[in-house]
Amino acid sequence: MVDLFEKLRMEAGPLAKYSHLPDDYFFFPKLEGEIGPHMTFNGKPVLNWSLNNYLGLANHPDVRKTDADAAAQYGMAYPMGARMMSGNSVNHLRLEKELAAFVQKEDVMLLNFGYQGVVSIIDALVDRKDVIVYDAESHACIIDGVRLHMGKRFVYAHNDMESLEKQLQRATKLANETGGGILVITEGVFGMSGNQGNLTGVVELKKQYNFRLFVDDAHGFGCMGPTGAGTGEAQGVQDQIDLYFSTFAKSMASIGAFVAGDRKILKYLRYSVRSQIYAKSMPMPLVMGVLKRLELLRTQPALREKLWTIVRAIQNGLRERGFSLGTTTSMVTPVLFKGGVGEAANMAMDLRENYGIFCSVVIYPVVPKDVIMFRIIPTAAHTLEDVNRTLEAFSALKIKLDSGFYRQEELVSVTKAL
Ligand SMILES: Cc1ncc(COP(=O)(O)O)c(C=O)c1O
Repeated sequence: MVDLFEKLRMEAGPLAKYSHLPDDYFFFPKLEGEIGPHMTFNGKPVLNWSLNNYLGLANHPDVRKTDADAAAQYGMAYPMGARMMSGNSVNHLRLEKELAAFVQKEDVMLLNFGYQGVVSIIDALVDRKDVIVYDAESHACIIDGVRLHMGKRFVYAHNDMESLEKQLQRATKLANETGGGILVITEGVFGMSGNQGNLTGVVELKKQYNFRLFVDDAHGFGCMGPTGAGTGEAQGVQDQIDLYFSTFAKSMASIGAFVAGDRKILKYLRYSVRSQIYAKSMPMPLVMGVLKRLELLRTQPALREKLWTIVRAIQNGLRERGFSLGTTTSMVTPVLFKGGVGEAANMAMDLRENYGIFCSVVIYPVVPKDVIMFRIIPTAAHTLEDVNRTLEAFSALKIKLDSGFYRQEELVSVTKAL
């Protein structure tokens, strides 16, 4: 027998093994100032590419005013209680109606948080007779929802339709035996690689296999498609997505989430999603704030156009300079280098300290051991000048990396600990 806490200390998990590093540089960094491309990090100004503030709404004056006015009018408490008991309001209902129209679905249910919402929706949709088939690179909230499932689950290779079909064959055989159904889960835009989920491919398989499709479009909502209705709209298959989910934490720059689909299944979910039934309703200032953001999404397509202007400029610029952006087909812009964790830390530090540019650096175990990923998130609030400065900086970094500069152990004291 061991002391539980002692065991946890000895067997740090994949990320916890880095927890001895100072808590405010690579992990838990503090970005200060008004949210946008220009913030302060470690006491110095930085050009910031690390926020999913895709449409630049976090600091939009109308959004800030609505948030502040609603907080003053309602406070954060209203309405009290779970939605089902005492926490409903006309504005919650109005927001659901407007969101449903925006994403071209019959009905919507609000969720307090995306992560919990996804876990709980999956839990509500399936019982032990049912089979889940999901993409291997699914977000942690999908994985956790699948972990709750008492029945069988099959994972298919990321975006690989042959692999999906194989798993659907297994799932169909099993479901025929148990008398259950099949739920396929994937994402609209995968937040790390920037790959769009192959929704057209998945939907094509509906012709041969009987399943329901749940799409987590946390990154695509507001950005993808002619009206911003998401990746399903971009690929012309929105009507084939049985349940469409997005968080408000990215393009909407708020907190909360929603799930959309047919009226009957939404009614079922309202009475079954445990993370909502047993939790306090979304506070009114958040509801009013999301209504305003949605109005801006509908009425100001220029925000989306600006985002894509910046996306094209940075992605074309990086590609022209010979950088690998992996397989992205969206705004998410991973820049891939070959190198170890020590080099990654040195590069990130050089970029922050000497070029004044902040973006997230992703290392093993999220990417393979010899890969360094700098993840650039373009937004509508960036300028072409920001893009050019970043292109220059990345070119300089690459020359240094190729020359072995970042292999120097003593380069930065913090990396010695890695
Ligand atoms: C794909 C995906 N799903 C769900 C979530 C969770 O959303 P929330 O931040 O609202 O909990 C995220 C956010 O990181 C995400 O990227």
